[in-house]
Amino acid sequence: MRLSAAVLCALVAVQAAVLLAAVPAAQAELPDSADDVHKLIANFARKNFTVEELVILSGAHSIGQTHCSSFAGRLSEPADQIVPAYRELLKYKCSQGSNPPVVNNVRDEDYDVVARYTPGFTSRVRKVSDYLDNSYYHNNLAKIVTFHSDWTLLTHKEALGHVKEYAENGTLWDEDFADSLVKLSKLPMPAGSKGEIRKKCSAINHRLY
Ligand code: HEM
Repeated sequence: MRLSAAVLCALVAVQAAVLLAAVPAAQAELPDSADDVHKLIANFARKNFTVEELVILSGAHSIGQTHCSSFAGRLSEPADQIVPAYRELLKYKCSQGSNPPVVNNVRDEDYDVVARYTPGFTSRVRKVSDYLDNSYYHNNLAKIVTFHSDWTLLTHKEALGHVKEYAENGTLWDEDFADSLVKLSKLPMPAGSKGEIRKKCSAINHRLY
């Protein structure tokens, strides 16, 4: 499924504050990429989204990019949480500027960088960025995802079961992702809010004060 990160961001960002916010202080209540699975589940449950839907929607991280500040903690996590070679790759990318962007999916990474740091994963590089597929689940099981919030899904029995299920069945994930995205799009805006399409996924467009 070809879907640009910008388009998905536009679809989702408007709803994200609704789905993921429990109180009017929406920005403060957004899930954090350092959150553990129980906090993520609680966040989603507040808007009637299940553990399975959390896992399904997290698969959107097969596309797009992040910034080093969003996964700083990952750079010092132990080998049972992130493949050390991938951790080194991320460290290298983050040394290349001031909070530089990094692709969410190793598939979209520069081949030469992957060959240098994680030669075992060169077969995953496909040069088809923004291709939404179930590679996120394969990457997660291999412990080569950027966010702690991605990895932490493996620590919860039901969530792990779904990660495995969607790794094995990409067609099922395509269908379930479409359904979950439609559900996401139907969430009402908070009272008094018109919503907005964000220019930058992680931030509102206007100042609050
Ligand atoms: C489970 C809770 C989630 C957390 C903690 C989370 C966290 C993040 C963070 C930190 C970034 C990178 C921001 C940056 O550094 O610029 C990101 C990017 C992204 N997220 Fe999530 N996210 C979550 C759920 C979702 C959901 C539900 C979707 C869509 C269905 C989604 C779609 C995306 C996309 C497409 C990008 C890339 C945006 C771009 O390329 O500009 N995420 N997410």
